[in-house]
Amino acid sequence: MALQGALMWICSLAVLSSCADQDESLQCGYQHLTSNLKAVGECEDSLPWSSQERAGLLLNLRNLMDKLYTLQLRECQGAEPNKCPQAEVPEDGGLLCTTVSNKRYCKPMCNHGHDFSFLRRSRVYEECSEQTGFKWQSQFFGGNKLAVCNKAKIQVSGAASAYFSEDQDCLTIKSNSSLIQSAIMGAFGSELRGAGVQGDAENSCLLCG
Ligand SMILES: *[C@@H]1O[C@H](CO)[C@@H](O)[C@H](O)[C@H]1NC(C)=O
Repeated sequence: MALQGALMWICSLAVLSSCADQDESLQCGYQHLTSNLKAVGECEDSLPWSSQERAGLLLNLRNLMDKLYTLQLRECQGAEPNKCPQAEVPEDGGLLCTTVSNKRYCKPMCNHGHDFSFLRRSRVYEECSEQTGFKWQSQFFGGNKLAVCNKAKIQVSGAASAYFSEDQDCLTIKSNSSLIQSAIMGAFGSELRGAGVQGDAENSCLLCG
């Protein structure tokens, strides 16, 4: 691209300088923002911005990222049973959750190049339900932290299905609804059914760390 296109976009965004006219203009802005961020990110040429301007961009991107991650955490809110606290999302990974027959199940996953800190090959997901006292059964005693993903060259601690592939990390999958279903929800459903968990899955969500 199309560095030129990207620069034109930066200019056209000037009209979206505040959230005052929210919804419609921001919805339309989403398409521009996404395609142009992608293009600038893939741009081979050095970018024409000064170090000060680059710092300004990083600052704005960081603010936006913080906001997006905060909003993401609300996506699983209200899931039954609502006495269960929301489990923490592992950094450098993701958390896949679903409710079946009023029991909440969450499966921690690690991105490629990361591995779990505890062996959990036979422990694919954790449960929170009335039977567990509405607490997460976790290797981290008493907390809502189900797993930690540490940088690692080889991935041996978890089940094969608990790792995102190199070219499909958590956000790549989450941003594509057909991938969510085909790549991870289907496997999680089979794992639950394989363990005798019967019933319709509700309030399913994938959160990325
Ligand atoms: C979603 O993933 C599928 C399979 O990799 C791919 O064919 C499709 O183009 C993707 N859709 C989007 C919107 O990226």
